[in-house]
Amino acid sequence: MKNYLSSMVIFSFIFMSCNSAAQISTADKKIDAKVDSVLKLMTLDEKIGQMVLYTSGWDVTGPTLKSDYIDDIRNGKCGNIFNAHTVEYVRKLQKIAVEESRLGIPLLFGYDVIHGHKTIFPISLGESASWDLKAIEKSARIAATEAAASGLNWTFAPMVDISVEPRWGRVSEGAGEDPFLGSQIAAARVRGFQGNNLADTTTVLACVKHFAAYGAPLAGRDYNTVDMSQRVFLDVYLPPYKSAIDAGALSVMSSFNEFDGVPATGNRYLLTEILRNQLGFKGFVVSDYTSVNEMVHHGVVANEEEAALLAIKAGLDMDMQGEVYAKYLKKLIEKGLIDEKTIDQSVRRILSVKFKLGLFDDPYRYCNEAREKRTIYAPEHLEAAFDVAKRSMVLLKNENNILPLKKGEKIAVIGELANSKRDLLGSWKAAGDWNFIKSILDELKEYNGEKNVLYAEGCKKMGDDRTGFAQAMATARRADKIVMVIGEDAEWTGEAASRSNINIPGVQTELLEQLKTLNKPIVVVLMNGRPLVLAEENKLADAILEAWFPGTMGGKAVTHVLFGEYNPSGKLTMTFPLNLGQVPIFYYEKNTGRPIYLGNDKYKSKYLDSPNDPLFPFGFGLSYTTFEYSDITLSTNELQQDGNIRASVTVTNTGKRDGEEVVQCYVRDLVGSVTRPVKELKGFEKIFLKAGESKKVSFTITPDLLSFHRQDMTYGTEPGDFKMFIGGNSRDVKETSFKLIN
Ligand code: BGC
Repeated sequence: MKNYLSSMVIFSFIFMSCNSAAQISTADKKIDAKVDSVLKLMTLDEKIGQMVLYTSGWDVTGPTLKSDYIDDIRNGKCGNIFNAHTVEYVRKLQKIAVEESRLGIPLLFGYDVIHGHKTIFPISLGESASWDLKAIEKSARIAATEAAASGLNWTFAPMVDISVEPRWGRVSEGAGEDPFLGSQIAAARVRGFQGNNLADTTTVLACVKHFAAYGAPLAGRDYNTVDMSQRVFLDVYLPPYKSAIDAGALSVMSSFNEFDGVPATGNRYLLTEILRNQLGFKGFVVSDYTSVNEMVHHGVVANEEEAALLAIKAGLDMDMQGEVYAKYLKKLIEKGLIDEKTIDQSVRRILSVKFKLGLFDDPYRYCNEAREKRTIYAPEHLEAAFDVAKRSMVLLKNENNILPLKKGEKIAVIGELANSKRDLLGSWKAAGDWNFIKSILDELKEYNGEKNVLYAEGCKKMGDDRTGFAQAMATARRADKIVMVIGEDAEWTGEAASRSNINIPGVQTELLEQLKTLNKPIVVVLMNGRPLVLAEENKLADAILEAWFPGTMGGKAVTHVLFGEYNPSGKLTMTFPLNLGQVPIFYYEKNTGRPIYLGNDKYKSKYLDSPNDPLFPFGFGLSYTTFEYSDITLSTNELQQDGNIRASVTVTNTGKRDGEEVVQCYVRDLVGSVTRPVKELKGFEKIFLKAGESKKVSFTITPDLLSFHRQDMTYGTEPGDFKMFIGGNSRDVKETSFKLIN
């Protein structure tokens, strides 16, 4: 009882001082003073407790090591929890922290709200294919609103890892292969999650992950070694992290992989030199799930105590789930291997964020049942999810304009995925509930009438059971057109979901081959989380619609796109290879000394058994209308160091339908002190054009946009000749040239 009372006294002291200080100002300086006043009251154990993050055990992505986290919260030994949500549960845990621990410091509640919390949006890779920053920001805004209404205050997103590795399952969580587009999307997502004010009850703290270069595992195998030059890291992989931090993200997650031989979680170059000293990051760094412990397996430390030492010295502030900080930081101080000041610095960063979230003013600010009830699945959230899902879809083929379908046409719908609700949500579905939603089949029936939609599963998405083929054939015979929904199981994408081949799994393609013998138009709808090898399917299908895992409203979105209620406007943000042997394949490759176009003899950079070109290039996507591009006009063809060039094209909608086009601008630096990519995206704009309408689209190119790490590793431009390309994808472009003057 005595302890309890004394803790209540201190608890009130913190709250009184915080409340009064909050009235004066919310500026950083004031927050620093408040943080100091709390820090002074803390024992070393309590400080270390703030550096600890445990899962509540609801959802885990690794082994659950800790079951007595509730006692740890009570004893001030755990300052942060993840995988706990709903107001009821969060309130219960927060109450223990605030009312039963000695100092009453509120908990952070984290969760993987990657593409929606309850209302699930398309997987992030799909959203990126919309090239629509406003829509992407809105999606993150809604995800934050729902998460915050469920008691959460921290999302482990955005994932901003650039990747050119479709074998890696986690490409589904990112924005694709391009650093320029990836940077803009990273910033849009941070703005969406954090809003203008972290203390607003509809915003959550963003966590930029996975720092760094996690998207480049060798052979696409998750958690595998990363080995890249510093130049590639700085020019290609770093920009989206930088952009997210510039947009105000106040937490960063270290990655599982090694970087230049040292695991990211213990890598001082990454966590301190780059992140703090160069990018000016002011928030805190959390490890990934047990990534501190895993440094033992990496073989850079002999035991977990050494792992704790390496991590804290590198600049890691919080240990996710590993219990390494909890067990060893105190010992390391006692042994004189680290100074308590190092601990104070990390605790300061963490507390400062808790103050910014307003948790010291009201630790239950995210715990309001009425708000939870009216926010989750709000009609406007579902409407936005429907909108983004439509915008994300990419029309890859449409021979003889067999799409859009016409209302009343008799269609045979084939495939397990057509009738799957679970898969619509994709991986990292947070608290998304598939029981609540409608499948593609449900929506097609609703739109086109039960009698016009015949269904046969045909086969499962996995396995080799062909017993349903006959029924599928019989069903297809009775229809005018066939719509086959094929792809991957949602669980085959995301974390720990690497694949050694990226074909359509199981016997789905075999069934497609049989259906082809019926000589009826075939539409393939794809549900998948990565670029796939689609050479066979591309031969068999008349039309292909890439729908990704489109989320809660995905069934309706697919239906509306198929029937032309929405004219598809998405463009690929990762190259789709022709075959697996081409991987890694991406549009910003280097020219090499023996580029294939120099001649067709053997000694060129090419394959003996395959073209170099992908099946679908970066930026590619069709529409139900067509667009024509004029030649490029430049405001000048000499770019001065303090000037800019305006590059313009006129785009005309030459078809019969209104539509949107993503106009893309690329450049090539022809000669550099180091080799330069054959194309780099430097601008894009998504425009709407009525049938027959023309619009002028202009891009401004500044020297800043042409900067890179030169041979001596300084960052800047080099004068000389450049090419500029503008078009509707990275392959089919208009071309001109300009000079950068010294
Ligand atoms: C993943 C992270 C995720 C964390 C917490 C890890 O396994 O790599 O992306 O945020 O688990 O769920």
